[in-house]
Amino acid sequence: MNIRHLKNPFEDVTDLFVLSTRKTDYCIGIIYDEGYVGHIYYGKKLTGHNFSGLVRINEYPFGKAGKEREKCSFHDMVSLEYPSHGIGDYREDCLSVETPEGNSAVLPLYDSYEIIEGKPKIAGLPASFGDRNDVTTLILHCLDRILNLKVDLVYSVFYDNDVITRSVRITNGSNEQIFIKKVYSACLDMDNRNFEALSLHGSWARERHIEKSVLTHNKTIVESVRGESSHQDHPFLALITPNTTQETGEVYAMNFVYSGNFRTGAFLDQFDNVRMFMGINPVDFKWKLLPGECFEAPEVVMTYSSDGLGSMTRAFHDFYRQHLIRSPYLHKKRPVLINNWEATYFEFDTGKLLDIARRASELGIEMLVMDDGWFGKRNDDSCSLGDWTVNEDKIKGGLKALVDEVNRLGMKFGIWFEPEMISPDSDLYRKHPDWAIHIEGREGIRSRNQYVLDLSRQDVCDHVYEQVASILRSANIEYVKWDMNRQLTDIGSAYLDSDRIGELFHRYVLGMYSLQDRLIKEFPYLLLENCSGGGGRFDPGMLYYSPQIWCSDDTDAVERLSIQEGTALIYPLSCIGAHVSDCPNHAVGRTTPFETRGHVALAGTFGYELDITKISEEDVNMIPEQIDMYHRYNDLVREGDYYRMDSYLDNHTHDCYGVVAKDKNEALFTYVQVLGRVNYKGRRIYLKGLDSQKEYTVDDGETYTGDVLMNAGLLIPEMSGDFRSRLIHLEVKNG
Ligand code: DGJ
Repeated sequence: MNIRHLKNPFEDVTDLFVLSTRKTDYCIGIIYDEGYVGHIYYGKKLTGHNFSGLVRINEYPFGKAGKEREKCSFHDMVSLEYPSHGIGDYREDCLSVETPEGNSAVLPLYDSYEIIEGKPKIAGLPASFGDRNDVTTLILHCLDRILNLKVDLVYSVFYDNDVITRSVRITNGSNEQIFIKKVYSACLDMDNRNFEALSLHGSWARERHIEKSVLTHNKTIVESVRGESSHQDHPFLALITPNTTQETGEVYAMNFVYSGNFRTGAFLDQFDNVRMFMGINPVDFKWKLLPGECFEAPEVVMTYSSDGLGSMTRAFHDFYRQHLIRSPYLHKKRPVLINNWEATYFEFDTGKLLDIARRASELGIEMLVMDDGWFGKRNDDSCSLGDWTVNEDKIKGGLKALVDEVNRLGMKFGIWFEPEMISPDSDLYRKHPDWAIHIEGREGIRSRNQYVLDLSRQDVCDHVYEQVASILRSANIEYVKWDMNRQLTDIGSAYLDSDRIGELFHRYVLGMYSLQDRLIKEFPYLLLENCSGGGGRFDPGMLYYSPQIWCSDDTDAVERLSIQEGTALIYPLSCIGAHVSDCPNHAVGRTTPFETRGHVALAGTFGYELDITKISEEDVNMIPEQIDMYHRYNDLVREGDYYRMDSYLDNHTHDCYGVVAKDKNEALFTYVQVLGRVNYKGRRIYLKGLDSQKEYTVDDGETYTGDVLMNAGLLIPEMSGDFRSRLIHLEVKNG
């Protein structure tokens, strides 16, 4: 049983719910007859189920909490599942409202429960899925009896994955409208174990670098108010015990299945207890709920590991591959593509593209992707977003002729769009200036010379969809790169009433999701790659629509080590967009060997992004070999278990990570010697994840048992120079 319910298990607790995964337990207790939804325990699986000592009501600092207790202090210390605003819990709360009278307090208390085999969908939002064999769902129906506000706390337990997902539904059961001003999706109260907070921070071209900080009474906040999950902060937070490594230490992690404004954080309260939370960012959020209406908050994915970060990583990877990513390409090799962005930027035409395609097809590249600049009159980033008609001055003879010719070369064809945007210099803007997100009378803030379309409007969504779909219907286009190159400002809408402007950020995200959903329904075999100025919207929400996301506009092999390490901390390698590009690298100006660029891109979807008609013959000659490598190893990279040995982020000298097949008969490790050293014979790497008893043959022909490779290590000879790399392939012969 994944979920057990016990009636009156111990004093003051009327109902106990135990949610079990293979290695963890999560316990919720309904406290007192009023029905406070208390948090009792989350962590390593327990054998007994007497948790009476864990219900924190008897630790009440101002005397024993009883019927006559002083409620304010009680609310401010008890461990809760979903603390609410205005009733004396002065720690961070999860829910706040505005009633017609202008009041903000709300107190949802337990009413009843429901257990469902399987998992209900969340309307209009991406969410994990599973059938009755994979997942069981507990819904705690709570009620604020004064406001007639129903609050459903939804917990879905994925036993085999060691994952519990959480979301919340708010229904207005009254006869009056009410505003939701804040609605988080998850909260976790627990004892402090000297936790550190681990988050992913970055910037454009430097996304998702791992950061750690000590948890104190000052709140650690990770958030986006930019309208997208963002390059800068990531909808992920883990609390880790001191000195947590890949194999040791406790980890509590939350990841948000949402692509807009989010807020997550953790802190110690006055009694040094920890509260961790995650949800939609309340900044600029205010949702009008009419009588009978329901608001569904996005999902949080939670996992706990008692054996370090590596287990957390593999739990997320498996969970997303099994229960979030839906694409028919999920378990398939993606075509090796060549994208013309870093090759030509805006300066291309049919002739140039075909030159690249001809050379590419000879080398074994399987798809040409035409990036930004093929539409309207776009020759730089100053115009034409919204005018999705082919620029026949560049694409001579039209799109179909180009696609057909690329197909004749034996290659597939892919195309770039930025559907959510509108250039002030576009026919669309001249016709519909009110379709941009804007504030009447205030000149819009331009970013990359563009505005954002108001996707809260159905008419705008319909128009955008038809523009994109008609291009896709016009030729044999098998891949779309869906880009988004600016963040939101000037939050105003010509369509929403003034008391609904607080809905715009969230409605924008819902509109964008609805567009992607329509697209993959009409074109089920389209390979969709999301992108946002590189990796500005790389989150679980987008993975529900596309099996891969462009990871970063920084394609430098060394920078990518850190970016890909942070990304792979949560997301499977199968979804990390990675290409070999030209040197000196366009983002950082660094020159790295072509071979190293290939090795680093292998830990992702793999492709090229450079002008192969111009690079050296030596580099060109390496391409067929790299493509061979991709075909040889991609099944393993896409489906295997990820292990990290060494991190360049920590040691500033070298990096090493690998993928081990589920049956442990094959493994591929990548070693990058970032900086060369004098007079060293090499570096010993202690491999991980192997079967200690199995005999592995390394590519040099030597055979070692797994325990030798993991405990005594494998010597990687020093290579002369910086930025050198080596792949280490291991195989159990006759395994
Ligand atoms: C940002 C993307 O990340 C790039 O790869 C490229 O598509 C440009 N936008 C095009 O404008």
